[in-house]
Amino acid sequence: DEAKAESKAKIKQLLKDKDAVLVAHYYTDPEIQALAEETGGCVSDSLEMARFGRDHPAKTLIVAGVKFMGETSKILSPDKTILMPTLEATCSLDLGCPIDTFSEFCDAHPDHTVVVYANTSAAVKARADWVVTSSIALEIVEHLDSQDKKMIWGPDRHLGSYIAKQTGADMLMWQGECIVHDEFQAKALRELKKIHPNAAVLVHPESPASVVELADAVGSTSQLIKAAQTMDNDTFIVATDKGIFYKMQQAAPDKNLIAAPTGGNGATCKSCAHCPWMAMNGLKAIESALENKDPSQHEIFVDDTLRLDALKPLDRMLDFAA
Ligand code: 13P
Ligand code: SF4
Repeated sequence: DEAKAESKAKIKQLLKDKDAVLVAHYYTDPEIQALAEETGGCVSDSLEMARFGRDHPAKTLIVAGVKFMGETSKILSPDKTILMPTLEATCSLDLGCPIDTFSEFCDAHPDHTVVVYANTSAAVKARADWVVTSSIALEIVEHLDSQDKKMIWGPDRHLGSYIAKQTGADMLMWQGECIVHDEFQAKALRELKKIHPNAAVLVHPESPASVVELADAVGSTSQLIKAAQTMDNDTFIVATDKGIFYKMQQAAPDKNLIAAPTGGNGATCKSCAHCPWMAMNGLKAIESALENKDPSQHEIFVDDTLRLDALKPLDRMLDFAA
């Protein structure tokens, strides 16, 4: 409608005025993803967001996603201004892994290599030997396992168990989870598969093991989009945040995409396959971030010592991915 069109026009102008570029995650609302694309920004998974932001020449990055993504950008690009639509957009994995208790866990196992998921605070990254995202976690753990490293893994227990099962690696697990993916229901998914016998099931590995077991492809957001594009099936049942359907349908226009069930066994969903924090990235919030009248609401700052400690495991991942 009119108000939205006006807001988009204002954002486009502000992006130019402030030498800023919009970097959005696949889980943000379709209109935000479309705006990022239209304005020369990027829509991608968390690994690619980090790389794109680091390599882009703009002075300011506006990160439509959740706080750890903004922090990662600041760690990689300290000289850029990093703005977020709201600093209240967090992540249950980050919230469930406070630095004090995580650090004690690491201290108790000094012979273990500490591998943390990107969905963590700068402080937790600074305590780690390696940072990984879901698109490269398997390869990095395989690499460490081939060197006979014992590992501490945090914070996502579902992703950790999936990787441990795939690699046979020795991993001590932190017990965190993503509130969105944790709600996918295996029983209801089995029923849905019966209704669509030719459908392939695509699952993000933050989902419970019982759901991952039913998958035809398991992977990060970008890997799942690729699977929908390249697999022969005409129908896909997709277990991840529903924000992904926008780009997945573009990548596979002739395919029938169905959301995996989040309720079952009489349970009702709370997040219903959409991250409440990703949903905070609205047009108005982007506008006010770009105006940045109140940096305490929008701007990411990371203490310099912490930043340098967090940069090492992040760079290790990016070098490995290169
Ligand atoms: P990826 O985009 O790296 O698959 O991460 C998923 C996620 O949960 C981000 O919040
Ligand atoms: Fe965190 Fe899950 Fe939301 Fe991703 S979808 S930001 S892992 S709570």
